[in-house]
This record gives sequence, C-alpha cells and structure tokens, in this order.
Amino acid sequence: MNIETVDFLIIGSGVAGLRAAIELAPHGNVLVATKDMPKESSTEYAQGGIAVALSDEDKVGIHFEDTLKAGDGLCNENAVKILVEEGPERILELISWGAEFDKEGTKLDFTIEAAHSRKRVLHARGDSTGKELERVLLNKVRSFPSVKKYPFAFTVDLIIKDGECCGAYILKDRKITAVIARATILCTGGAGQIFARTTNPMVATGDGMAIAFRAGAQLEDMEFIQFHPTSLYSQYAPQFLLSEAMRGEGAILRNINKEPFMKIYHRDAELAPRDIVSRAIISEMVKTESSHVYLDMTHLEKDFVRKRFPQIYSTCLRYNIDITSGLIPVSPAAHYIMGGVRTDLNGVTSIKRLYAAGEVASTGVHGANRLASNSLLEGLVYGARTGKSALEFGVQSSVSTGNSPRREFGVSGYPQTYHTIPEHDEIRMTLRKLMWDRVGIIRCGVSLEEARKKLSEWTFILDKVFYTRRELELKNMLTVAMMSTEAASLRKGSVGAHYRSDFPEKGKDWQKHIALAREDDRIKHSLV
Ligand code: SIN
Repeated sequence: MNIETVDFLIIGSGVAGLRAAIELAPHGNVLVATKDMPKESSTEYAQGGIAVALSDEDKVGIHFEDTLKAGDGLCNENAVKILVEEGPERILELISWGAEFDKEGTKLDFTIEAAHSRKRVLHARGDSTGKELERVLLNKVRSFPSVKKYPFAFTVDLIIKDGECCGAYILKDRKITAVIARATILCTGGAGQIFARTTNPMVATGDGMAIAFRAGAQLEDMEFIQFHPTSLYSQYAPQFLLSEAMRGEGAILRNINKEPFMKIYHRDAELAPRDIVSRAIISEMVKTESSHVYLDMTHLEKDFVRKRFPQIYSTCLRYNIDITSGLIPVSPAAHYIMGGVRTDLNGVTSIKRLYAAGEVASTGVHGANRLASNSLLEGLVYGARTGKSALEFGVQSSVSTGNSPRREFGVSGYPQTYHTIPEHDEIRMTLRKLMWDRVGIIRCGVSLEEARKKLSEWTFILDKVFYTRRELELKNMLTVAMMSTEAASLRKGSVGAHYRSDFPEKGKDWQKHIALAREDDRIKHSLV
C-alpha cells in the first residue's frame, strides 16, 4: 500500500472544499481528493443562485429572520448569524477574484425565491450560478502551487488512531493509498441519490456522512430532507432541476387539468415554503390520478424567459419542450439534506482532527428546512471558517506527518481481500425506489417500518470491503438511507421538511435534534 503525507486533506471539490483549500493553501500542502472530475459536484449544477443581503432594500437582520422562519424553529441562531453576517464579505471577495454575477445596468441584479421577504438571490449567466462559482474557485485554487488535486480518487474510509483522524484510505487507479494528514476536511456534499427522484448529480451518494459514521462521528438531523417541488418529469429526459427562480419570476403551477392550485394551499402560492409546495403538488397528483403537474411560463415575455433561464431553456428544448410556449411537466424530487456530520460553528466534528463543511455537515444553519439559495453561501462562509480552524490545529499540532507514518498512525494496511456483489446495481435501484416510496415527502410509522425492514436485509453489505466505486457508493448509500430512516422513525412529529401523516403536529421534544452515532456496532441515538 502506498503512503502519502500532506498537511491538509480535503475530500470533495464543491464550493466548501475549494473555499477551504484557498484558506489553507498559503500555509501548507493541501490535497483535494475527489471521486470524479473536480468540477463534478452539486455546486456545478446549482441554478437559482446565492442568497446574500447586499441589495439596497435588504439587511442582514432580515436575511437572518427569513432563514430562521424557513428553518421552522430548529436553526442554530448563532450559525445563522455567522452565515448572514459573513456572507456579504465572502461574496465581495469572490467578485474580486473574478466572479461575474448578472447585473441590471451597473448594479447587481437580485431575484426572489420562496420564503425570502426581499429580492436577495444573486445569479450568474441567468441560471448557471453554481458553474460560475466553481469556475472562479477552481481558478483561484490553481494559483496556489501548494494545492494538488486527485481526481477519480474515492475515499474509502478514514484512518483513525486513538480516537483521532489521521487521514484517509483513498482508492485511486485501483490501488489503496493511505493519505496521512494533520487535518482532514469532509466536503463531500449531499445524498440525493438515495432517492429514486432527485435533482442531485450522480456523485451525491452521501459518502462523507457514511465514512464519518463508520469512524464513530455523530450524524444529526438526518430526517430533514428537502424535496424540491419542480424537477422535469418526462420519460425521455433526465430529472433536471427547474429552478425556483422561475416561480420567483412569475411561473405558475397548474394541475393536470391545467388549473392553478397553489392559492388553495398557501397565501404565498407558488412562493410558499418548498415543503408546502411539494406536498400540494403530491395532493394534486393524487386527486387527479396523475404522475405530474405543470409549470407554466407561457404568459411571460419569451425573450425575457430565454435570456433569464438560458440553460433551462436549451435543456428542455433538447427534449422537445419549449418553455416559452408550452407547459412543462414537473414533479418533486429530493434536493438537499439539512442534516449530516454534526459540527460546531468552525467545522469541528466529534472526532479530533476531522472537520466537515457544506452539505455534508450539520451546523444547524438550515434547521428543519433550508431557505432557498442559502447553501452556496453556506459553502463559502463555512468552507472558509473550517479551513481557518483546521489551520489553527495544523499549526499548533505537535503531530508530525513525516518520518514513519506507518507506525505513528497505525496504518496497518487496508484489507487486500475484497468482495463483490453481482446484483449491486439492482440493490441500488431497489433502495432508491424504497426510499422514495417509503421515506419520501410524506412518511408514516408504517412506511418507515417497511423501509427499515427492507434496508436491514442488505446489512451484509456494511462490513464488506469493496474495490469498485459503484459498490463503495452502494455501501455508503445504504448507511445514509438507514440513518435517515432511523431519524425519521424517531421523530414522531412534523417539523419543516419532515412530514409524518400519523403525527401532523410538531410533537413532544420537537426542538431537540436527533444525533446518531455508532457504538459497538449498534446505533446510539441521543437528543441534543
Ligand atoms: C433552485 O434554483 O431552485 C435551487 C436553489 C436552491 O435550492 O438553493
């Protein structure tokens, strides 16, 4: 087995990982390991934009209040304060590095999305905001010779010695390398792929959450999955996100009979919180016995629609849907996980020298339901903070990454004998459908029990060693699916994005967070 030593290991190359790398690069060598190409992350696909209180009509205090309201009483107020207060500085810094956000004349152009009381969502090239962020951050990272990138390098497990994280085992070119680091930062994004319908890219298989859990870290708020109301629904097209900004600009939802319906469900109609819009769509689908509803932009000026949503326009056109003149078939899809690896406000996890930032982490910033377009901002703000705190540890640390890492870090070698599951793709498909059907937008005790039972049939996968990405991903997806189902069963109430038809009220102890950790091969849960 190869052994490599670095100062800082960052796993994942979305907005949080790259921003952390920029913070650390002047102070040591940084390795950014990513299981696909560096730009293949949820960041790259983010459309709507990035929320920040920078417009003349806005204030950080209003952004703070809107975020708390969306989080439905479960946000960590200190985490939100940091997000909204440090956000403007992070955005201005990004602009100074070359980010080009859309402008109206000479001023930044802000749009509105659900549950925002002000126009505060910046966007780039219409609906390609994530791409622009990824471009600028990757360019900035390239300017530091101290940052090395490993593409197509799958992090299999963390290296833990005496309760501390000393790096990770990474599968690259079909060989395992033990990467020893002073500090390891997980920035692996979300887990949307555990659901049959998702807006997330293929890489979002919950890897960071699963490897942290295996290593003994606490996961928190795993029941809180946000479902985006509008992803493209067509047999022939991918489950492509149709940005909430479309509704922000005036798009209307219509049922299969072409009747608008959102006003019946909420006074904010199309711009009601996402969980309400998603459940309203499901209700209409059930009522009309259809598999989708429609998003209608035909009343908007065609030229405006083409210019404002160029990527969505051209993607839909590829599948024969002209969004300027026809109704767009849509249905909800899993979009974002509010929970993840439990951290403090500096990305510190429950394992020493292991940090987490971005969607993989749970700082409490999103509570039970994330305010739209707060996640890219979270990646920037908490990526930078986590980089800083990992740096403090790295500088103070007496741990050397030199001489004899094999002995010093207990790198005993990764198991050479590995397993293979011939039916792994079939299990993946069944798991995703199970999660969508039983742990989806509307859950109940019966559906969750069915999910738990079925998932437990696959636990033989959890203690096996694999050497292929698909099988390793399946093992991680199963772990995250089990934790999400466990937390959803434990929360006997409905809060934010977690809705239980058998417990529609918030229920007892609703203001507590559910934390899960592995202890002696059992799942220990606590209310925190
Ligand atoms: C969207 O464009 O609708 C997604 C934005 C987000 O989820 O933050």
